Amino acid sequence: MKTDRAYLLAVESSCDDTSVAILLENQVLSNIVSSQLVHNVHGGVVPELASREHEKNLLWVCKEALEMADVTFEDIAAVAFTQGPGLPGSLLVGTSFAKGLSLRLGVPLIAVNHMEAHILSVLLAEDRPEFPFIALVVSGGHTLLVLVKNWDQMEVLGSTQDDAVGEAFDKCAKMLGLGYPGGKKINELAAQGDPHAFEFPIARIPGYGFSYSGVKTAFLYFLQRHDPAFIQERISDVCASLQQALLSPLIQKAMSAMEAYDCRQLGVSGGVAANSELRRQLFEQAEKRDWKVYFPAFEYCTDNAGMIGLVGWLKWKNKQFSPLSIGAEPRLKVGAPLL
Ligand code: KG4
Ligand code: ZN
Repeated sequence: MKTDRAYLLAVESSCDDTSVAILLENQVLSNIVSSQLVHNVHGGVVPELASREHEKNLLWVCKEALEMADVTFEDIAAVAFTQGPGLPGSLLVGTSFAKGLSLRLGVPLIAVNHMEAHILSVLLAEDRPEFPFIALVVSGGHTLLVLVKNWDQMEVLGSTQDDAVGEAFDKCAKMLGLGYPGGKKINELAAQGDPHAFEFPIARIPGYGFSYSGVKTAFLYFLQRHDPAFIQERISDVCASLQQALLSPLIQKAMSAMEAYDCRQLGVSGGVAANSELRRQLFEQAEKRDWKVYFPAFEYCTDNAGMIGLVGWLKWKNKQFSPLSIGAEPRLKVGAPLL
């Protein structure tokens, strides 16, 4: 052991990114992410292919993470892994890998909730919120507003009734022929466009819920009504208007939750937190209202093992270890009791 402080190894395999990170307590020393390109031609993640890719890639990703952090397996004091939510097959590969390591190295195993890790990923930055804060999680699979009372005490205020916001970005991008995943591409094209050029419907969902199926269908009809040449000519305006329709419920609901819970700090995480317009508008609102908005660094927005390791470290400090009999939980909820 190089130091008295604990080195943690963290594994993330919930969807289509294979990732391993090494942490020294709450400090990420390495965070290797291998994004599976095999799905791109299919226009979405193919679960069976994702599991097979994790199986192929986990070991080399793990070795690279150890090498970059300049530590060996013998230095590792605990293994943290994503227990859920996620694709069943993908989770099983990561869970089995983590269990095997824990057994072989004789160190504790720590199960981590992927969504709680996204929520707490804002704590990886130097400038970070204090508890309590409101979390807006915007990813390819989830759209959630959460009251974060402490690292292990969270209350979901609202979530999407259908598609996640990242999924809506990706499906609309696919309709535009922009490839998969297309959220980033829409963001780039929108930068030159007018967000008020076209009007797309925004669902009126009570409370802190979201819905994206209506705007997705309206967008499909919009594309069918217009000549493809017109869409190409106005692509920046189309993307900017669509992006505004996708982002505005997030901004509105986050602001009303901040007011209702008298919270002055907002943490935004998940892949869509990389969106430059979401960042710009939330910073603008925060400045007006004297709030603070926190985003993780880009590498911790999309799926990564660094955020899993952070929660692993918090659990490690509190001796919240998992038995080797633990299983993957594809439908694990935020705030679910420890298994
Ligand atoms: O967090 P993440 O890796 O997925 C899940 O855990 O589900 O996020 C991926 C999502 C994709 O839907 C992708 O299109 C979206 O994040 N995304 C963006 C941007 N960058 C990534 N969406 C909008 N603007 C971006 N700049
Ligand atoms: Zn995720």
